[in-house]
Amino acid sequence: MKGIILAGGLGTRLRPLTLVTNKHLLPVYDRPMIYYPIECLRNAGMDEVLIVTGGEHAGDFLKLLKNGKDLGLKTLAYAYQEGEGGIADALKLAEDFADGEKICVVLGDNIIERSIRKAAGDFFTQRTGAKLLLKEVPDPERFGVCRLEGENVVEIIEKPSDPPSNLAVTGIYFYDNTVFEICQTLTPSGRGELEITDVNNAYLERGDLTYDVLEGWWTDAGTHESLYRAATFVAEGGANKMDEVGASR
Ligand code: DAU
Repeated sequence: MKGIILAGGLGTRLRPLTLVTNKHLLPVYDRPMIYYPIECLRNAGMDEVLIVTGGEHAGDFLKLLKNGKDLGLKTLAYAYQEGEGGIADALKLAEDFADGEKICVVLGDNIIERSIRKAAGDFFTQRTGAKLLLKEVPDPERFGVCRLEGENVVEIIEKPSDPPSNLAVTGIYFYDNTVFEICQTLTPSGRGELEITDVNNAYLERGDLTYDVLEGWWTDAGTHESLYRAATFVAEGGANKMDEVGASR
């Protein structure tokens, strides 16, 4: 399974920090933000990775990461997203790289404590469809949120003003290769973006979506508060970091 990291967008919620660099190159305690999704994928056994980025500072990813060998990657590819058309718009650029294989997509500002190796293994044996990782949060209105009937997720609502649960959809998604067909059917949302939540609802409507609830802490790092929280979590509890031989902690 190949790994895709989506690290485009303008990072407007982190201005002025993002006026002179890409959000995903900002420090989260002792490492640039982009290291965390790379380590997340690497620790789950994925060493072929595509980073989708954009904006004026895209070249800095190459300066920092080079060919990815220092971070234990076999292949590191880059794609450039024009503008800020949304997460699903960025994902479209991964179609050739995926080359028909299943993929694990990680948002570049998501940081987790534990390994996703088990979920990746489970998805590998899942014949078709998608798999989401969910997490209970105190502020669900900031995220895609699940509406549940019993244990079943029946709908995902993007940033609901009146959240139907506190179960957020994290930015770690497993998809089969039909995801690119779904992306082609999307239309921009009210905020002018192709929404990953619409992709996930399409799988839900097909009855081909599974989920796990993530263990350990999870945070995004896309606002000043969450960037600070991410740094604190990492400083206090470590994160999904590789040791020198590439083994997961
Ligand atoms: O963090 C999880 C949440 O991420 C999910 O619960 C939401 O359903 C999902 O929509 C997303 O919400 P955000 O509003 O936090 O997404 P944001 O616009 O901050 O983008 C998250 C990452 O996606 C960002 O760090 C880079 C990538 N991205 C985003 C946009 C808008 C791109 O690569 N290209 C883009 O055009």
